[in-house]
Amino acid sequence: MIQQTLSIIKPDATRRNIIGEILTQIEQSGLSVKALKMLHLTQEQAEGFYAEHQGKDFFAPLVAFMTSAPIVVAVLEGENAITHYRTLMGATDPEKREKGTIRDRFALSYRENSVHGSDSENSAKREIAYFFTPNEIVK
Ligand code: TYD
Ligand code: MG
Repeated sequence: MIQQTLSIIKPDATRRNIIGEILTQIEQSGLSVKALKMLHLTQEQAEGFYAEHQGKDFFAPLVAFMTSAPIVVAVLEGENAITHYRTLMGATDPEKREKGTIRDRFALSYRENSVHGSDSENSAKREIAYFFTPNEIVK
């Protein structure tokens, strides 16, 4: 099944000039970039994007981190793109990160973990629409 998913290259990565290295790993894994932009999130945009985590203890520091430098958002497409990209990213918990995954290679900490990927079809739909209009996504 061909799917689309939303990817974010997070502030810890844009700050270190490793956007290209991360996009290379994504493309070499077989996923294709169908939309791409760089932006600096406002507090409101970051809070809205992570609304599911509102009220949790890590919410405020997460929003502060996500607004601390520019990010790169992308729509990725491929066979089972949602789980494919989650697997390529590696686990949220640093102790469970598989060797060679993007987070294993690049994450600085639990929070500063270099990349985001949608976790379900519903989140992918919502998150893609959060950053892109349909005419910004190539066929
Ligand atoms: P989450 O959606 O659970 O993880 P993922 O990014 O793998 O989908 O959480 C969003 C981000 O919040 C996560 O990338 C890092 C941060 N976070 C913490 O700082 N502490 C935590 O305990 C959790 C669960 C997440
Ligand atoms: Mg998540």
